[in-house]
Amino acid sequence: MTDSTKKTVATTHIEMSEIVLPNDANTLGNILGGKVMHMIDIACAVAAHRHCRRPVVTASMDYLDFRHPIKVGALIIVKASVNRAFRTSMECGAKVFSEDLETGERKHTSTAYLTFVALDENKKPTPVEPIVAETPEEQRRWQQAVIRRDFRMRQKEALRAPR
Ligand SMILES: CC(C)(COP(=O)(O)OP(=O)(O)OC[C@H]1O[C@@H](n2cnc3c(N)ncnc32)[C@H](O)[C@@H]1OP(=O)(O)O)[C@@H](O)C(=O)NCCC(=O)NCCS
Repeated sequence: MTDSTKKTVATTHIEMSEIVLPNDANTLGNILGGKVMHMIDIACAVAAHRHCRRPVVTASMDYLDFRHPIKVGALIIVKASVNRAFRTSMECGAKVFSEDLETGERKHTSTAYLTFVALDENKKPTPVEPIVAETPEEQRRWQQAVIRRDFRMRQKEALRAPR
């Protein structure tokens, strides 16, 4: 693969932002968790689709916490990219930030890991190419992705096993 055709993490990177409006907020004036999850799902789906250039489905979303509320009127920013590609699946990572538009203060509010599966014309899982992690940060995420994948697999098996 030449440098111009290699599939890098950077080519999957996406940033989505929106002003939080009252329709997406709870009665305390903070963004709804479901709205944050929706944005994470869309951003990660685009990153995965960019990598494999095929339709993808969400197979799983790992544990998600909300560290700080995001107020109506603030900006929500979701940054996502593919961390690692496996056989037919890809782990995507998303980081969510809030930005106070008056002061410019940014807070990291959530981190999430999602798995997407590429589908063929018959809507069956289909192999994807490996991804090249270039920076030290991308390489750290690439290495840790396999640990998270093993954990997911073990958890799935354990929950399936008769007790
Ligand atoms: C995800 C889905 C395609 C997997 O199909 P499947 O028949 O289990 O396929 P396979 O067993 O061949 O697994 C395919 C890949 O999915 C991965 N996978 C399956 N279940 C998973 C899960 N719960 N979490 C993470 N990865 C999962 C497998 O590890 C495998 O990855 P690999 O090829 O890189 O090793 C299928 O379960 C599906 O269509 N689910 C619904 C997806 C959807 O509609 N999402 C929208 C939200 S409801």
